[in-house]
Amino acid sequence: MNPMNTYALEMRHITKTFPGVQALKDVTFCVRKGEVHALVGENGAGKSTLMKVLAGAHLADAGEILLDGKPVHITNPLEAQRLGISIIYQEFNLVPDLNVAENIFLGREPTKGPLGWIDRRKMYADAEAILQRLGIPLDVRAPVRRLSVAHQQIVEIAKALSQEAKIVAMDEPSATLTEHELDRLFEVIRGLKQSGVSIIYISHRLEEIFGICDTVTVLRDGQHVGTLPTNQVNREKLISMMVGRELAEGKFVVRKPPRKDPILRVQHLNRRGVLHDINFELYRGEILAFTGLVGAGRTELARAIFGADPIDSGEVYLHGQRVHIKSPQQAVRIGIGYLPEDRKQLGLVLGMVVRENATLSNLGALSVLGFVRRGMERGVVGNYVRDLDIRTPSIEQLVRNLSGGNQQKVVLAKWLFADCKVLIFDEPTRGIDVGAKSEIHRLMVDLAERGVGVIMISSELPEVLQVADRILVMHEGRIAAEMYRDEATQERIMHYATGGR
Ligand SMILES: Nc1ncnc2c1ncn2[C@@H]1O[C@H](COP(=O)(O)OP(=O)(O)OP(=O)(O)O)[C@@H](O)[C@H]1O
Ligand SMILES: [Mg+2]
Repeated sequence: MNPMNTYALEMRHITKTFPGVQALKDVTFCVRKGEVHALVGENGAGKSTLMKVLAGAHLADAGEILLDGKPVHITNPLEAQRLGISIIYQEFNLVPDLNVAENIFLGREPTKGPLGWIDRRKMYADAEAILQRLGIPLDVRAPVRRLSVAHQQIVEIAKALSQEAKIVAMDEPSATLTEHELDRLFEVIRGLKQSGVSIIYISHRLEEIFGICDTVTVLRDGQHVGTLPTNQVNREKLISMMVGRELAEGKFVVRKPPRKDPILRVQHLNRRGVLHDINFELYRGEILAFTGLVGAGRTELARAIFGADPIDSGEVYLHGQRVHIKSPQQAVRIGIGYLPEDRKQLGLVLGMVVRENATLSNLGALSVLGFVRRGMERGVVGNYVRDLDIRTPSIEQLVRNLSGGNQQKVVLAKWLFADCKVLIFDEPTRGIDVGAKSEIHRLMVDLAERGVGVIMISSELPEVLQVADRILVMHEGRIAAEMYRDEATQERIMHYATGGR
C-alpha cells in the first residue's frame, strides 16, 4: 500500500451489464478523504448503478473496490454498511408503515437489557437528535406513509447520517427539498466533510455542484469521461462533457397565448386546513405556473382538482360547464391529466414494460372492437421513446429497470398520449438531466400551442420564469400573487412565496 495514498475510496475498472444494457464500462472513480465529490451525467449514464455497486446492491461483473487503499469485497448491503458506506438512494427505501424513528434505525435499533429488547425511548430520542441536527422538526412517531415526498427524503438522509459512515453517497438528495431544507443539508454536508467523511453527491442541478462540491466526475453512456476540480470547469464545459456536444440552453421565444376561452375555472375552492378560497382561470394554450415553497398547497390544489382528494367547498368549471370530479378516473375521462411529483406512487406501474405504461391511460385510442392494435401501439410508443429520448434497450423493458430520469419520461409519454385538454405537471423536470429538461420544456410549449391548457407546478424559479406565461404564487394554501412572465422576477416571486405583501 502506498502511504501517500489519500483516496478513501477507489472503484477501479468497474463493469456492469444488464440484459441489453451495458450500464458501466470500465469505470474508474476515486474519492479523497473529506471531499465532496460530484457525480454527474445524463439520465441513464450509470450514476445510480455505480452507487449500487458500491452499496452492494449490485455485483459488478468486473473491477475492484478499495477503501483506504485496501481491497474489499462488497457482496451485499450489510457488508457495505459494516465497511462504513452509506447510501441515500434516489428511489426511497423506506417502509411506509413504520414510523420515522423505526425507519431511521431499521435493523440497527438500540437495545437494552440482557434480552436485547428494543430501547424505544432511546430510539426516539436518537431520532429526534438527528433530525435536530438537520434542523427539520418531524414527528418521529408518524408513519412514513403519511409524510410528503420532501420529508421522506429527509428521513432517508437522517437514516444515512445515523450510520456514522465514512463514505456517504447521496443520489439526488436535493430533488425534493425546499431552499431551506437544502441549506440545512449543505450545512450538514460541510460538517461531515470537516470530520473527514467523504461525500459523493449526485444531482442534475449544476448550481449545487458548483456550490458544494470540490471535485466532479462525469459519466456518459456508462463510461468515465473525466474528473476535475470544480473550480477548473464552468457550466458550459460540464454540460458538453455530459452530453458530448455543445448545448444551447433555454432560449425561448416569448409567446402570446390567447387570453380568451378559459378551459378551466376554479372558484372559491376550499379544503379545510389546506386550501383557502382558491380562484383562478386557465386559458386555452396557456402555460400557467403555480409556484411557492414546498408545502404552500400546490400539490394539494392539483390533487383536489384531479379528484384525488375531496374538497369541502368550491366550484370547478371545464369549458364553462360545472363539473364535480370525484375521482382521478373521472378527471381523466373528462380530459384532465395529472403528472404527479412522486412518479413512484401515482405515475407508473413498475412491473409493467415501457409500452404498457405509456398507453395505459388511453387504450381506447388504440382499440378496435375491444382489441388493442399492437402494431399501432408499438409505433406510437416508439415515437415517444424517440421524441423524449427515453434511454431503454426496447419498449418491452420493465419500467423498474430504467434509470430514474427515464422513468419520469415514461410518465410524460403516458400523459401526452392520454389526449387531455388540461394537463397538470407537478415538478415535471425533477431528476431530469439538462438536455432532456429543455426537451420537456419545449414539449409543454408544443402542447400549449396545440390548445392544451398546461398547469406547471414548479419550485425551480428559473424554469418558471422561462416557460410560464403567467405565474400564480402560493403561500400557506392561498394564492398570494399573480403576475405575467414579463413582470416576474425571482425576487418578486420569493417575496410573495414567503408571505410578503
Ligand atoms: N436493474 C436493471 N436492469 C436493467 N437495466 C438497468 C437496471 N438498472 C439500471 N439499468 C440500466 O442501466 C443504465 C444506467 O442506469 P442508471 O440508473 O445507473 O442511470 P443514472 O445515471 O442514475 O440516471 P438518472 O439520472 O436518470 O437517475 C440505464 O440504461 C438503465 O436503464
Ligand atoms: Mg439515477
